[in-house]
Amino acid sequence: MCGIVGYIGKKNGAIPVIDGLKRLEYRGYDSWGIAAKDSGRIDFHKQVGKIGAFELAKDLPEFSGNICIGHTRWATHGGVTEANSHPHFSCDNKIAVVHNGIIENYQELRKNLEAKGHKFRSQTDTEIIPHLIEEKLKEKHNLPSAVRLALKDLEGSYAVGVISQDDDILIGARKGSPLVLGIGNGEFFLGSDVPAFLKYTNKVIFLDENQMAILDQKNQSYKIMDVNTNKQLNPEIATIEWSLDEAEKGGHPHFMIKEMLEQPYVIEKTISVEANELKKAASMIKSAERIYIVACGTAMHAGMYGAYIFALRNNLIVQTISAGEFPYFEHLISTNDLIITVSQSGETADVLEAVRSAHRSGAKVLSLVNVMGSSLMRMSDMFLLTKAGPEICVLSTKAYVSQQAMFVMLSATLAGDITAGKKILQIAKNDIAKILKLMSLDKIKKLAREIATVPNIYAIGRGVNYPSALEGCLKIKEVSYIHAEGFAGGDLKHGPISLIEPGVPVLAFVANDGSDKEILSNAMEVKARGARVIGISFENNQVFDEYFPVAANGVYTPISAIVYTQLIAYFIALEKKLDPDKPRNLAKSVTVK
Ligand code: M6R
Repeated sequence: MCGIVGYIGKKNGAIPVIDGLKRLEYRGYDSWGIAAKDSGRIDFHKQVGKIGAFELAKDLPEFSGNICIGHTRWATHGGVTEANSHPHFSCDNKIAVVHNGIIENYQELRKNLEAKGHKFRSQTDTEIIPHLIEEKLKEKHNLPSAVRLALKDLEGSYAVGVISQDDDILIGARKGSPLVLGIGNGEFFLGSDVPAFLKYTNKVIFLDENQMAILDQKNQSYKIMDVNTNKQLNPEIATIEWSLDEAEKGGHPHFMIKEMLEQPYVIEKTISVEANELKKAASMIKSAERIYIVACGTAMHAGMYGAYIFALRNNLIVQTISAGEFPYFEHLISTNDLIITVSQSGETADVLEAVRSAHRSGAKVLSLVNVMGSSLMRMSDMFLLTKAGPEICVLSTKAYVSQQAMFVMLSATLAGDITAGKKILQIAKNDIAKILKLMSLDKIKKLAREIATVPNIYAIGRGVNYPSALEGCLKIKEVSYIHAEGFAGGDLKHGPISLIEPGVPVLAFVANDGSDKEILSNAMEVKARGARVIGISFENNQVFDEYFPVAANGVYTPISAIVYTQLIAYFIALEKKLDPDKPRNLAKSVTVK
């Protein structure tokens, strides 16, 4: 949660920092703020709400500084107020700090600092950081040492950007929250994520745990230090291959629609995944005693789909566990087990914690992850990059499809027939392209218009389509705020069917995988109680009030079927005049537990 950006160089840093904040808004959009150092003085501006429409030249023309930090917030400690928005300052206002993460021992630190006379202006955990630095500076440390020593006192997670009125440097550091250093021509950038500064440079260093970057304006140089040992490090500079265009809306009104439209191309990328990589991952799976798939939200639904495919195609028993629940299973994990994690961002705190716990138990970790250089990628014993490209919309769409596709390739590799996996994905790719062409058809929009005002929507599926029912409803509820719930068709009679009343929309996912008869009788059961049945199926049936066709792709049908619910969710949001890219209360990367 929260995005941080920093700039040091010769330009007015407020320009790239505001620009970066707009690109990071998906990480949090309760409030935002910037601070810049200009000829010895730190100026700042904070505002409640989204940064979207803010224009520096028009709204704050005087604001400038060659050393600048910025923050877009997703509130954890303290309400959404100007006082709680970042940057936060020391008592003397000489130190400004932006922070992403949670300082777990902040209450104790705050008490100690207050006892020493420090006055706090917010309810945030972050504010203790500038005060701690101020305290260390009083002990005659220079800024880098003061920051380093302050960081050592912190428990919890942080990515920080620090500037000081008395120094021409920008300091960034991380532990548990992501931070990337961008290396430009005589200038440097900090960002929670690469798109924050991709417009200016594609040369980056992904800071590792407990690393601190000291960026020097006068010498145009940078130093990476280990916060614990104070040793200088020499990390590799990576080149980012994503184009800025890939990270931008590319003429579409929202990232959500842009990202949904990219799905055929995303599958193409998965089809071309290196056979050697797949074989290495497959051999980890083969040699594991027990296999668990651990993920959150949409990624967990992709994991559930993977577990069905492994069971049906590879005779493997795989258990899917929501990462937040994984600690309750930790005592059962042992050295011969394999944990497969799935994550778009690679920064989800619950997933990272599950990886730490798996490693504590001696288990191996294989990750399906989308963001190159992410914490998850670096913590895993092996990773497969899902290559969906940057996903900016808070709702995960193309990443889901790429994760499902990667499970298909893994399953095909386990079965010794990678080519079969490619063929299956080709069918799914063509089908998605077809569905997206139909997109402009009034049928989806008309349905969205008609159901935009209902209080409840349900979805049913069986086997491989049970995750589709869950994921379809997650999309709808996230973006439209309509209560939407997915059920396994067979579970209806055990309780949920009591919810069915005349007119309630029920999406029925039907695949030609042998489960069609059963799910169609479940559809009949709800129809008999007045439900409006919307069939997403390989063939039409009289039970459907509306019918959306998908290719008959057996157990792989869900890969394209899900696209309908993404589109329905999107058009309901538009109908309700909601912003599909930034649903209320959500953030793209959930970096808090
Ligand atoms: O980055 P991750 O894939 O680890 O994120 C996991 C979930 O937080 C994420 O899928 C969330 O459920 C999305 N908002 C779904 O659209």
